[in-house]
Formats: sequence, structure tokens, C-alpha cells
Amino acid sequence: MRDLLLIGIGTGNRDHVTLAGVQAMRSADLILIPRKGPDKADLADLRHQICESVLSGCDVALAEFDLPVRDASGDYRAGVDAWHDAIAKAWSDAIDRHAPDARRVALLIWGDPSLYDSSLRIAARLPDLRVRVIPGITALQALTAAHAIPVNEIGAPFIVTTGRQLRDKGWPPGVDTVAVMLDGDCAFQTLDPDGIEIWWGAYLGMAEEMLISGPLADRSAQILSDRAQARSRHGWIMDIYLLRRRS
Ligand SMILES: C[S@@+](CC[C@H](N)C(=O)[O-])C[C@H]1O[C@@H](n2cnc3c(N)ncnc32)[C@H](O)[C@@H]1O
Repeated sequence: MRDLLLIGIGTGNRDHVTLAGVQAMRSADLILIPRKGPDKADLADLRHQICESVLSGCDVALAEFDLPVRDASGDYRAGVDAWHDAIAKAWSDAIDRHAPDARRVALLIWGDPSLYDSSLRIAARLPDLRVRVIPGITALQALTAAHAIPVNEIGAPFIVTTGRQLRDKGWPPGVDTVAVMLDGDCAFQTLDPDGIEIWWGAYLGMAEEMLISGPLADRSAQILSDRAQARSRHGWIMDIYLLRRRS
């Protein structure tokens, strides 16, 4: 049976790749690198840089494949299901094309495969593969480390959610700490900022890293404007934030 190694590579810093990740990469016969189109080229390029820095002297083939585009026109769940089917097929086709005899195939997963990432769900569509996960540093860990803050208060729970959930449903019940990912629209603007602190970070781990923290009421406008400028300068942005309210 063929192994599929899902290797968490952290959030854009070569030094986030763990020794276990390096060993897994070096043990692979083939590493698949998704191409998302020119606007996201940095991420494919970063995967190539990581490969270059850890694979010297190893006989590991690299193969790019075009990541299928999700059809956003109809029902969301059906669109995601069809998209995952298409990605599973793209993985299979790339393996058949580039290394049909490969025993160990690897994918370099942004952050960690367990957090807002679908590679495990996609891999489950390919029953002939035995999945191995090598954990990576998540964007949430990179955020809390960059600000040197704990994610939770003593003995207290926290929630990790998306910008869409925060915008549509408001502050989640039962918690005073909320981490927000996948937020293209700065959903924190929809909250009453009174009594809320924010710790925001973009491009965490990368040379372009940006950090802003403080009372939401005071920092909201600065985050909006710095974020918009950075996005237009680089052509893309990835950001995450932690909100904590006084209980
Ligand atoms: C599809 S999710 C992938 C999360 C990833 N699996 C992880 O473990 O962090 C992408 C989201 O992660 C966050 N993210 C990933 N990399 C980041 C970075 N370098 N800086 C800030 N946020 C990042 C952003 O919220 C982005 O919208």
C-alpha cells in the first residue's frame, strides 16, 4: 500500500518545519506541489524553497499540479464536495503521471493538517492510500507566539472560528476568547468593541510579518487601513486574530 504523508510545514517560515517534517520529506519518493495561479504564487514558491533547503542529496521527485477551482455558483456544501473530489483526482493523476511506482507520496500542508484544512477529507476519498500526518505549527500558534500571549485564560475555554461565522452569528456563547481565521472582511467590525482586546497578525512567520494589538475600539481602524495597504502591496494577505473580552 502507498503512504500519503501530510506534512505540516507551519505558516511560511522555513524554520517552522519540524525535524520530523524534514525526515518525512526526505523519505518521500514524490512531493506534490499545488499551483493555485499567479496571485498565490508565493505559497508554491515557498514550498519549493523549503524543498530546496531540506532535500539536498535526496532522490525525491517534485511535481506541480494545478489545483482545481471551486465552483461557487450553487449550494456551498455540494460545491465543496465536488471540489474535494476534483482535488483527489488531481492528486491521483499527478502521482500516475510523475511517479506511478512511488511508495511514499507527500504533500506540504500549510500550518497543520487538522486546522481549517481539507487534505485529510480529500485523502479519505483515496482508499488505496495509507495516511500519515506530521504535525505543523498552526497560524494560531504563530499568532500567540508572535504576541507572546496565552491562547486561553486560566482554566477557561476558547473558540476558533471563521470570519463568516463571527459576522453572521456574533460573539459565540460560553467563551470570552475567540480566535478568528479565514476572514477576508474583518468581521471584528461587526462587534461592539467596548471591553474587547484584539491581537492581530498577518504574514506570520514571514519577512512581511505585521502585528497590531490593543483595545479593539482603538486599533480597528489601524488594522483596516494597514491590512488594505499590505494587501494591495503584496497582492494577497493571510491574517488571523484573537479577541478577548472582559468577563
Ligand atoms: C485554509 S486556513 C489554513 C490554516 C492552517 N492549516 C493552519 O494550521 O494554520 C488559512 C487561514 O489560516 C490563517 N493563516 C495561515 N497562515 C497565516 C499566516 N502566515 N499569517 C496569518 N494568518 C495565517 C489565516 O486566517 C488564513 O485565512
